[in-house]
Amino acid sequence: MIIAVDGPAASGKGTLAEGLARHYGLPHLDTGLLYRAVGWAVREVPEGPDFEARAIAVAQGLDAAHLRNLDELTSAEGGVFASRVAVIGAVRQAMRQYQREFAARPGGAVLDGRDIGTVICPQADVKLFITCDSKVRMERRARQLENRGLTVDRYALYHQIEERDARDRANPHGGFYKADDAHLLDTTLLDIEASLRAAIAIVDGTMAHKAGL
Ligand code: C5P
Repeated sequence: MIIAVDGPAASGKGTLAEGLARHYGLPHLDTGLLYRAVGWAVREVPEGPDFEARAIAVAQGLDAAHLRNLDELTSAEGGVFASRVAVIGAVRQAMRQYQREFAARPGGAVLDGRDIGTVICPQADVKLFITCDSKVRMERRARQLENRGLTVDRYALYHQIEERDARDRANPHGGFYKADDAHLLDTTLLDIEASLRAAIAIVDGTMAHKAGL
């Protein structure tokens, strides 16, 4: 079973995808981490033709060594760096194969990102599109960062999330929208447990429906 989980920055899709993977015993790929790793590697390169070429080279040679510094990669800045490289078509192309192979594992997988249900796995058995009010998304991300002992400027964080949303929405190479056959799950008023219960109910219901039950 392939489960695709898409949604905007800090919508809780990563936590949900992890919970679904645990529940169904499936491997999980956080595809945002791939873009974060590429963005982080070229964070000091000024934008321009050289920036694109360097980002493409990193994406083509991406390996586990790039994914090591999770605290840096999953920081708010890491998200902004990721969205800078995510608009480069050749970067997306370079990482497509890896994501598709991950999804094609025997038994299936859970992938979360922006374009999983539309571009990477249009054939996914179940597609979820997670939404959440942007102020709630900011507050959730702020608490995550504070739990790591970081000091958070909520005003700056809100603007970082908005900047990332705007760049992602305008991405000419993205399929950053809800697939027609995706189930919408708004987590604004739900905590993690309630969101996961709702997601499991959608997955079970969809699979039962497909099996003609
Ligand atoms: O999901 P996460 O917030 O970690 O993603 C970081 C950034 O990586 C996104 O804002 C987006 O620009 C990019 N991304 C993408 N396609 C994906 C996953 C992430 O373009 N499948």
